[in-house]
Amino acid sequence: MSDLRARAAQLDAANPVAHARDRFELPDGLLYLDGNSLGALPRGVAEAVADVVRRQWGTDLIASWNTHDWWGAPQRVGDRVGTLIGAAAGQVLVGDSTSVNLFKLYVAAARMRPGRRVVVNDPDVFPTDGYVLEGAARLADLEVAQVRPPELAAFLAERGREVALVSYSHVDYRTGRLWDLPGLTKLTQDAGALVLWDLCHSAGVVEVGLDEHGVDLAVGCGYKYLNGGPGAPAYAYVATRHLPDLDQPLTGWNGHATPFAMSGDYSPAPGVERLRVGTPPLLSLLALEAALAAYDGLAMSDVRAASMSLTGFFINCVHELLPDVEVVSPLDAAERGSQVALGHEQAYAVVQALIARGVVGDFREPNIVRLGFAPLYLSHVDALTAAQALRDVLADGAHLDPRWAQRSTVT
Ligand SMILES: Cc1ncc(COP(=O)(O)O)c(C=O)c1O
Repeated sequence: MSDLRARAAQLDAANPVAHARDRFELPDGLLYLDGNSLGALPRGVAEAVADVVRRQWGTDLIASWNTHDWWGAPQRVGDRVGTLIGAAAGQVLVGDSTSVNLFKLYVAAARMRPGRRVVVNDPDVFPTDGYVLEGAARLADLEVAQVRPPELAAFLAERGREVALVSYSHVDYRTGRLWDLPGLTKLTQDAGALVLWDLCHSAGVVEVGLDEHGVDLAVGCGYKYLNGGPGAPAYAYVATRHLPDLDQPLTGWNGHATPFAMSGDYSPAPGVERLRVGTPPLLSLLALEAALAAYDGLAMSDVRAASMSLTGFFINCVHELLPDVEVVSPLDAAERGSQVALGHEQAYAVVQALIARGVVGDFREPNIVRLGFAPLYLSHVDALTAAQALRDVLADGAHLDPRWAQRSTVT
């Protein structure tokens, strides 16, 4: 145990992003391992939002659309998100939810591949991706094929010519498995199809490299590792080469080439602005912009290295302190996102008992204790403390408390 503590201190001393912890407001005594669900509050966000409310809205009123460039915020914040996911300027737009952006891009992708009727989904993906794809498929008369990433090569060898789009998540929300984005992208494109990546669980913790790997389309949310706050707007990426042909179905006035001409005909904006739909939620959007300052000056390679080190060290602690607990996440750091999933028959109750001890994680069906390691505000000492808390919960039987038999709405 003292070996683990010494090792944790050593790793923390060598962590190049350890100083970023000071950029967050976190309650004392709380160990927050749920930044993969709702990121922590970065310092400065509350003040930035107060300024938007009091000065920009309260005093400058409608002039703010121009004087504070509210109008340009979706693209401006999109470019900032782009720096974290390897996208050059002009390809990322912030707005709407991930679900809505998925719909826009699913339909647009199918329109870019007329004559191909099959769209591929991973059956294990976060449900909204599959639900929205089914909805888009019904509208556009497409066939949804459920194909797990390891089976994609065989599927494409057989039916590749029929496939318009392959839609996958970069990191599996349950297991934390990181899929091979460059390899699966190439496989898909070699079959003449487009690829869409859901980056919800990789943006801000994994080096995504959208441009480098020639990805076609991507989406992701703003409230997890990007720390944009509850209900923060999401983003969508369209590679520059596809923008002129991108025909997205939600043709709202904000995406018009000349919105204030108030023309009777729809004509899409030339660039990524054509992804805009209606008036954006400015308070949330500007909160996200302020939150992204937590990444200022940090290299994503350092952030990724810290994330792999944290999850790897936590797994070592589990192996040492809790040898009977199943680690569901891949043991090879190169195949893992920034979370560790543990399997337990009473996973929901275990998570509640941990929360009661100040270690916040979450539960995912059917038996997953999910612990997220946001590298900007967690240390290796925190990882050890979490493993010790889990050992104590299981040793004391704290998870057997009847209080945890009843599930809350949000798990
Ligand atoms: C992989 C993935 N996609 C999409 C979503 C949800 O997106 P939204 O609620 O912004 O539509 C989540 C939420 O956790 C997710 O994990």
